[in-house]
Amino acid sequence: MDVTELKQAAAEHAAQFVESGMVVGLGYGSTAIWAVRQIAERLQRGELRDIVGIPCALKTEIEARELGIPLGTLETNPVIDVTIDGADEVDPALDLIKGGGGALLREKIVAQASRREIIIVDPSKMVPRLGTKWALPIEVIPFGYGSQIRFLESLGAEVQIRQNGEGAPFQTDQHNLILDCRFGPIPDTHMLAEKIKYRTGIVEHGLFIGLATDVIIADANGIQHIQRRQGN
Ligand code: A5P
Repeated sequence: MDVTELKQAAAEHAAQFVESGMVVGLGYGSTAIWAVRQIAERLQRGELRDIVGIPCALKTEIEARELGIPLGTLETNPVIDVTIDGADEVDPALDLIKGGGGALLREKIVAQASRREIIIVDPSKMVPRLGTKWALPIEVIPFGYGSQIRFLESLGAEVQIRQNGEGAPFQTDQHNLILDCRFGPIPDTHMLAEKIKYRTGIVEHGLFIGLATDVIIADANGIQHIQRRQGN
C-alpha cells in the first residue's frame, strides 16, 4: 500500500464513527480530506442524514460544499460531536503537532469545541517526542513579527517564515503569518506552550496537548485505533 492508500484507509475507518444527526468537524490536509470525501459518499448512499459539517479551513469548506455536505458554523452549532483531522506528529501520549497546512488556529478552535477529536495518520507521523521530525508552526500577526522571531529564537528555535508557492510569505485564513520553529525533540511541551501563549502578537501554536481523544493509524497490516484513557 502506498501512503495515499494508508491515508484513505485511516479516513474510511474514522468516517464510520460519524452518525446521522451529528455535528461533524471537517479537518484540513491531505489525510483529512479523505474523511470529508468518505462522509460525502456515505451521505450520497443514504447511510447518513441530517449532519452538519464545521470546516477547519476555507479550502475544506470549498470542497465540502462541492461535495454537498450541509455546513454550519460554531455560532449555529457551538458543540461538535466528532471531528476527524490529520496531524504532522503524534507522540505516545496522543499529543500532536499540527499546522503543516497552516490551518492550526481554526483546527484548534474546532478541536476544543469537539466532544471527540479523531486524528488519522499514517505510521510516519508517530514520534517518541514532539519536534523530532517536524518544525512547530506558530501563527503570528504580521505587525512586529521580527520581534516574535527574536523571542522564539531566545527559546531555542531555528525560525523560518513560511512561504507560499510563489516565494511570498504564506498567509493563513486569518491573513496572519506562520513561523516554522525547529526546536528538535521538545522535552517539556506544556512549559513551551505556556511561554509561547503568553507572548502578545503570537496568535496560536501548533502544539495540541490533551485534545485528541482517538488516533487511528493505518499501516500495511491494517488499522490501529488508540484511545486516550480517561483522566489523561
Ligand atoms: C493542517 O494545518 C494540518 O494540521 C494537517 O492536519 C497536518 O499538517 C497533516 O496534514 P497531512 O494529512 O497533509 O499530512
